[in-house]
Order: sequence, then structure tokens, then C-alpha cells
Amino acid sequence: MVERVGILVVAYGSRASAVIDALSRSENYDTHFYIADRQRNPFNLRHAEEHVVIPDLDVSSIRDFVDANKDRIDFGICCPEGPIIAGVRDVVERDTGVPMICPTKRYAIEASKASQRLLLAECCPEANPRFKIFQRSEYGSEAALKDAIRSFLDELDSEVAVKPDKPAAGKGVGVWGDHFSNREQLFEHFKSIFESGSDVIIEEKLEGEESSFQAFCDGRNLVPVPDTRDYKRAFDYDMGQNTGGMGSYKDTGDWLPFMDRRDREDEVRIVQKIFNALRGDGNNDELRGMPFYVAFMHTREGAKILEINSRPGDPEIQNVLPVLRSDPVELCFSMIEGNLSPSKLECEAKATVVTYAVPMDYGGYRESYGGDRKVDLSGLYRLKEKYGDDLRVYPGSMELRADGNTYALGSRTVCTVGIGASIEDARAISLDGIRHIDGALWNRWDIGAPHYIARSIQRMKELRMRS
Ligand code: AMP
Ligand code: GLY
Repeated sequence: MVERVGILVVAYGSRASAVIDALSRSENYDTHFYIADRQRNPFNLRHAEEHVVIPDLDVSSIRDFVDANKDRIDFGICCPEGPIIAGVRDVVERDTGVPMICPTKRYAIEASKASQRLLLAECCPEANPRFKIFQRSEYGSEAALKDAIRSFLDELDSEVAVKPDKPAAGKGVGVWGDHFSNREQLFEHFKSIFESGSDVIIEEKLEGEESSFQAFCDGRNLVPVPDTRDYKRAFDYDMGQNTGGMGSYKDTGDWLPFMDRRDREDEVRIVQKIFNALRGDGNNDELRGMPFYVAFMHTREGAKILEINSRPGDPEIQNVLPVLRSDPVELCFSMIEGNLSPSKLECEAKATVVTYAVPMDYGGYRESYGGDRKVDLSGLYRLKEKYGDDLRVYPGSMELRADGNTYALGSRTVCTVGIGASIEDARAISLDGIRHIDGALWNRWDIGAPHYIARSIQRMKELRMRS
């Protein structure tokens, strides 16, 4: 007899659809979903026993929704960072008794990039670039601020990245040579962050290849999932501004084609150090969930950390969940019960490619778009007859309206996940999916492309030769 399980999902974007899809495939549990959603996401609506729209995902509204359904909910998962940082776990657990899979507010280290740098300086300085934190309260005049910036830029030969302290999903980061090429432009970028109300970090520009490292955690054990590569820039050839992520790929094993076993071991070692520093001697179940989704840059001096997030990556988790071999509900219970182990997280040896289709006014593609936002996924779903489960369709920032049609909202609309024996096979499926979407959307065509991967391999080889 399969056991009934009620699951709260705090949803934002395609990532939540992927979580719900994975859990709904459990063979050992009969899953029922209670979904707190930003909008009427068509996938989530289809899967929900109860569905509520909370546009800003504010914590007290989530708590009220859980409270009204708590007798039928066994545990909750929060996908986006906003409610985690605002303390959704603390509030829901305190007021309803429903255990949440995400870190507590105290351990949402994603909340501040400055604190991350200070933490790393203590527990693994080798993974930190040189950095300086500029606090808004510290500088009385623009001249004093400019002086302080200038002297730090002199130290680093201007080769820097400028980032907001507050999380901005990669979007507020400016990199020398990519986003600005003189100090005046850099200062303008800096000022725009200050004016938005955030402190600023200026750090050494890291040269290398990026990987995304994610790990599940029960507070006692850290169980890493295979590495993925996110494509942050809006356009092909890594042109355009940073976005939340236009797509991502995963190889058949635990690391990426431009990495080797040692790089992966370095990542695990570094993240374990961070975990140990926060966990203390024993168990700290406040770190439950995915407290360390770490963006690494593999440089000629080894792996360095770009940033740490306290939740699954979007789109990176969509590369992993569709190839999970272990029971996903059991994985969740093991995080709550504190008996997580590598055996709870077996993945198929398959490659996956995620491609996002986004609206015309996303990522700097168009200044504005006044046309129809209707998106019809029926052709894409029909394509599943050809590919079966090797094609997954995860609607994100789109909504079902009263006229029965679905419409793109402002952020990443829908992603297609291709699953195959190689990255190339997976990519072909993902892109075939993209071509079957009917709507005014656009996408990158080079996610996981052979020329892109060959360039990463070559770059890494050249960097290592220089060391
Ligand atoms: P973050 O939000 O900190 O992950 O930054 C978003 C993107 O900006 C990263 O994926 C990198 O491509 C780039 N970036 C961030 N920090 C640096 C850095 N120190 N050096 C070079 N590129 C960076
Ligand atoms: N893929 C970037 C993020 O989830 O923050």
C-alpha cells in the first residue's frame, strides 16, 4: 500500500514545477500538493490539491495557507530565496508545526554577499577572491567614496567585479571588461547599486570556467548532487546582460567536461569546510534543505567561490531532479529525520540540457514589447509522444487566465529539459522542444553546444598551463 503524503510547495518559476514533477513520480508515496504560488502557473494548478496565489510570497500569507491545511500536510519545501530569507521556515514551523525543507532565517547566508565573503575569509580563505565591502553608512561624500574605490581599483589593476550585497539573482553584478571598460562607467554601476539601497562589494575579477555545485543537507550530512553549468548571460556567445540563467547542462557523471575529479573534490572539500564552520561539532538541523548551492569559478589557482545561495538553483536543479533514481519523497523525509546519506540520492548516468524560453522584454532583448503574450504549449506537450520522459516541460513565469489560455509574464516563461546518453543528445531534445512552443518568446541556442563546451575545455587547459 502506498502511503499518502501531503506536501506544501512554495513555488516560484520552473524550478518548482520540476520539484513537483519529481515528487509526483514517487513510487512509494501517493503525493498531494498544497501550492503557494506567485501566479496561476498552469503546471502547478494541474498538480495541486489546494492552490493559492500569493503574488509577493509573503511569509504570513504562506503561514495562513499552511495553517488552514496543516492536518493534511506532512512537510513543506520552499524553492525561492525571498521567503527563506524572510524566515518562512521559522514562522511556519513555529505556528503550524509543519516541518520545512529549507534553512532557517539565521542560516539563509544568501541574504548577504558581504557576510559570505567574511565567512569564507574565516573558514576557507583559499576560495575567496580579494574583496572590499563598501557600506552606505561609511561614506559622507561622493568624493570620499570615489577615493576609496579608486585606491582599491589601483590595487587590483581595475580587474574587478562589482556586486550588490543583497541577492539580485545575478542581475546586479557588473564585471570589468564585460559590463564596463572605464572607471567612470564602473562608478555609475556602483552608484546605481548604492542608490537601490544595498551595500556594495568590489572583488577581484576571476578568470576561469563556472560550475554550479548543489548539495542536500539534513544538518548532519551534506550530500552533493552532480555539477551543472549555468548560462547567465542573455545571448549566445555569452553576450548581453546577466540574467537569472538562460539554461544549463549536466554531463553523465558528477562533474563537467572541462573539470576533472580533483576539481570536483576541491568543491566538495570547500563546501564541507563552510558546512563544518556553520554546523559546529555536531548536528545543526537549521541547515536543512539546500543551504549551499555554490557558484564556483575554476581558476588557474583552483576553485574560487562567486557566491553562495541557500536554495536549489534555477535552472540548475531542473538538470538533476528528472534523473533522480532514488525516491524523492524518501529523500525529503531523510532530510527532516536527519538520516540523509549518499544512498538516498542516486542519479541515472544521463546528461541533461535545460533551455529557457523567455519573453521579448526579458534580458535586454527588447526595451519593451506591446504584442500578444499568449503562449501555447500544446505542440510541445504533443512532442512528448516522441520523446516520452526524455523531454520534460516546466512552465515558469506564465499564467492560466479565465479565457483558458496561458500567457507569459515578466520573467523566464518555460523551460524544456532534454535527457540523453550525451550532452549533445540531451540538447537536441531540449531544442526540439523549444521549437514546438507557439508564442512570442526567445531563447539561447547554444546551451550545452559542442563549440561552447570545447571552448571551456580549451580555456581551462590554457589556464592550467599558465599556473
Ligand atoms: P553572482 O550573482 O555573484 O553569482 O554573479 C553573477 C555572475 O557574474 C557570475 O555567474 C559570473 O559570471 C559573474 N561574476 C561574479 N563575480 C565575479 C568575479 N569575481 N569575477 C568574474 N566574474 C564574476
Ligand atoms: N541560476 C542562478 C540562480 O538560481 O540563482
